[in-house]
Amino acid sequence: MSTLGNSTNIFWHECPVGNHERQKLLNQKGCVVWITGLSGSGKSTLACSLGRELHSRGKLSYILDGDNLRHGLNKDLGFKAEDRIENIRRVGEVAKLFADAGLICVASLISPYRKDRDACRAMLPDDNFIEVFMNMPLELCEKRDAKGLYKLARAGKIKGFTGIDDPYEPPLNCEIEIRQKDGVCPAPCAMAGQVVSYLGRERIPAISMIYTPSIHVL
Ligand SMILES: Nc1ncnc2c1ncn2[C@@H]1O[C@H](COP(=O)(O)OP(=O)(O)OP(=O)(O)O)[C@@H](O)[C@H]1O
Ligand SMILES: [Mg+2]
Repeated sequence: MSTLGNSTNIFWHECPVGNHERQKLLNQKGCVVWITGLSGSGKSTLACSLGRELHSRGKLSYILDGDNLRHGLNKDLGFKAEDRIENIRRVGEVAKLFADAGLICVASLISPYRKDRDACRAMLPDDNFIEVFMNMPLELCEKRDAKGLYKLARAGKIKGFTGIDDPYEPPLNCEIEIRQKDGVCPAPCAMAGQVVSYLGRERIPAISMIYTPSIHVL
């Protein structure tokens, strides 16, 4: 049974160095770029390409990849519905801390349920959560099958696989959608470019290195 939220006599200890001071130190404003989509849709590929691009622009980022987190923080969790919910909740909380630290936190997880993603969004100020939907057709993801998991799922050897016998709920109001153009998937650097250009365009001012209180991400 879950004991979440049952603690009593809990206090908040204010720390002397605040979010604004860290942002000033880093010349950037922290945020969460949350990449969601089917297995094989290119989430990790985009996260890595984006991380490289931000690094080359002198921006500090950190990738929270669903697969990697299941080796540590979330290694006690499986894939049943309640575990998936807890998986996303934990990553949301960690991503929030990274953003508070002033980093551009790139979270790449299937995160199939809309409610769970929205709960992570609700943890942050509105414009600090940038949801990126990898809108790739199931057929493409299944054809890629980089990990051989679709094959196992089709053979019934993996149960509850997202897109096969467990639902994927696409975002209704994501900030960025990555999709094929004329049946061709954009190259990883083009996908990263789409996100970087959003961060620069929507998050005043464009690609500035000088910190001002109004500066957002880039
Ligand atoms: N834009 C792209 N163009 C060509 N191939 C791509 C592109 N994006 C991803 N791929 C390829 O598709 C496969 C799956 O990509 P990736 O591992 O990034 O998916 P994922 O969404 O992270 O999947 P999972 O949820 O299983 O971790 C990889 O072999 C990758 O090289
Ligand atoms: Mg991945």
